Amino acid sequence: MSEELVLFQVENGIGIITINRHKALNALNVEVLKALGKILDQVRKDESVKVLILTGAGEKAFVAGADISEMKNFSPIQAKEFSQLGQGIFRSIEELPKPVIAAVNGFALGGGTELAISCDYILASENAVFGQPEVNLGIFPGFGGTQRLVKHLGKMRAKELCFFGERIPAKRALEIGLCNEVVEAGRLMERAKELAKKLMEKGLLAIALCKQAIEQGSDLDLDKGLLVEQTLFGLCFDTQDQKEGMSAFLEKRKPGFSGK
Ligand code: COA
Repeated sequence: MSEELVLFQVENGIGIITINRHKALNALNVEVLKALGKILDQVRKDESVKVLILTGAGEKAFVAGADISEMKNFSPIQAKEFSQLGQGIFRSIEELPKPVIAAVNGFALGGGTELAISCDYILASENAVFGQPEVNLGIFPGFGGTQRLVKHLGKMRAKELCFFGERIPAKRALEIGLCNEVVEAGRLMERAKELAKKLMEKGLLAIALCKQAIEQGSDLDLDKGLLVEQTLFGLCFDTQDQKEGMSAFLEKRKPGFSGK
């Protein structure tokens, strides 16, 4: 059943999605992608989920890419549809009005790196390995890598990763801005939950609006982006969290945000 390929649990407001295809190093096939998409839809609607963590099962891989055995005999149309499916699901992570932390627990190759860079924060374990090795298979990244890597790292680095297809260890990924933080492998989930808890102490509605401003603004020219920012900034003033946050500051106390 598809539910077993992607696990989902909620712990005190933290949703944890685990890609669970251990035998194939959590490679993404159509079934896994659809199951992931279904869970993301559920997370969007589920008010009990405040922050999301995305990880891979086992200690070896986050996601070792798109499933090569499934892709091998794709027709061009099937390949296009597969790319569209993955792109749509990864886009829905950027559009999710909740922060998403990628807890990268090993190989994050191809679609694994593309999945991680669709999340809001990339926490990597020391043994994490990123990279876009698709050229070694006679293809190139098709789940948004060619577009997002340019935005994340700039055109030169994006080409370096995609042309050479080399594996980028966690430490190097941190140096070039391909992840936010590196932790000891044994502390990965503990640290991910720590980050999630920190986020839950903030005004989560403000974070959701801020995420929207950054995501939408990054595709626009500056003037249009600034307009998006001012509109969404204005919306913060229709929330209880804004009233609470500012009152708490003026009353010299810690705010108690309700996320409303
Ligand atoms: N698609 C399908 N199956 C995959 C896979 C992928 N992307 N990545 C790994 N697997 C499978 C292997 O075929 C193998 O299956 P088997 O046990 O039935 O033979 C199993 O997962 C374990 O992988 P293996 O290659 O034996 O492990 P390793 O430790 O020697 O190497 C990797 C690990 C991640 C370096 C290697 O599996 C790899 O290079 N994977 C492909 C990465 C890639 O090119 N991704 C982009 C795809 S577009």
